Amino acid sequence: MKLINHVSLKDFNTFGVEAIAKQFVNVNTEQELEVVLRENKDAAILILGGGSNMLLTGDLDQLVILNNLKGIEVVTENDDHVQVKAAAGEDWHQLVLWCLDHDYGGIENLALIPGSVGAAPIQNIGAYGVELQDVFISCRAININTGESHRFDRNACDFGYRHSVFKSKEKGQWVITSVTLELSKSQHTLKTSYGAIQKHLDQLSIKNPGIRDIAQAVIEIRSSKLPDPKVLGNSGSFFKNPIVDQKVVDDLLQKNKDMPFYKLSDQNSKIPAAWLIEQAGFKGKRVGSCGVHDKQALVLVNYGGASGQDILSLASSIQNDVENKFGVRLEMEVNIL
Ligand code: FAD
Ligand code: EPU
Repeated sequence: MKLINHVSLKDFNTFGVEAIAKQFVNVNTEQELEVVLRENKDAAILILGGGSNMLLTGDLDQLVILNNLKGIEVVTENDDHVQVKAAAGEDWHQLVLWCLDHDYGGIENLALIPGSVGAAPIQNIGAYGVELQDVFISCRAININTGESHRFDRNACDFGYRHSVFKSKEKGQWVITSVTLELSKSQHTLKTSYGAIQKHLDQLSIKNPGIRDIAQAVIEIRSSKLPDPKVLGNSGSFFKNPIVDQKVVDDLLQKNKDMPFYKLSDQNSKIPAAWLIEQAGFKGKRVGSCGVHDKQALVLVNYGGASGQDILSLASSIQNDVENKFGVRLEMEVNIL
């Protein structure tokens, strides 16, 4: 474990943008992490996982700690359920595959989400009708300033749509070191309600799907519309889907009869940001070295050589144009650094 000065983060963020970290260290154990935090008490610190939910808009005058803590273990089980603890530096998708190999159900809908296990609680990752909070028991974290170790249960995490306490009140205060999930061992509850999954299974004539079939369907659907960051730099959805008052939806429907929306309650609905962005004319649009993906308008892409500022500037024009056209302000999902 060695602190290195002046390190390029280009290969450590899935947008593939250039930014230099003042200092960088790779930690492989909790002991190493504790030592680094103790010896750099006054340093500004950034915790880095897979770099798949961040936009680096300039050099970082910080110590960047790459979380590489490894290990997956069963902590408790009975006939029906198992609790699995995974270290924060494990790759999320590899954890999903490990669970499928052991026939543990609950996170198959979250297959192929890039990034680390430790970042999963930060925005309560979600896809295809499942969110991390549905299986989450707790996570352990170390306070960056005090070195105190703490267990956060589900309530303490204050999970919401692409939200947790780690993105709000406790932002930048903790390093998550492990996450514990409760999964099913038998009688898996399959979540096929998200339209595209059922349609995909029907197309493959799979009548009695298992958790592997669900994961495979999700992988195939995702691969058909989301760009692979190894091929085309991106950070997944750049914006959140806006949640708005039903009155706003009703007003918008007057002029936009085909606007899709998902009712969350009598009071509010979620509108797909991709639809708003596409209607504002951005889908497939290229501005210099960056642009909006031609298969999914919620994904901004780096064609190669774009800077974080270029991408941020495109994001701002999307926000402004969508707001001018629909009166709805899109909120960025990606962490801007
Ligand atoms: P990073 O980008 O490294 O970090 C993200 C933030 O979390 C930063 O603020 C960082 O400081 C902080 N952080 C990271 N690790 C820790 C830790 N151990 N302790 C404390 N803070 C930490 N997300 C979804 O929810 N659903 C999707 O379907 C989805 N699809 C995607 C598809 C693509 C192609 C891409 C590129 C991204 C997608 N994402 C999706 C976003 C991303 O995969 C998730 O947000 C993921 O959890 C980020 O993990 P990471 O390790 O790369 O985090
Ligand atoms: N749509 C368009 N144009 C497009 C793409 C989509 O109009 O170019 C409309 C369609 O009406 C479509 C709807 O948007 O039915 C929803 O699209 P999609 O199913 O692709 O999902 P999304 O809402 O764009 C969200 C998440 C994704 C997650 C998928 C699947 C957010 C911000 N994004 O995308 O998460 O994988 O659902 O559950 O909630 C991420 O967070 O990085 C991410 C990729």
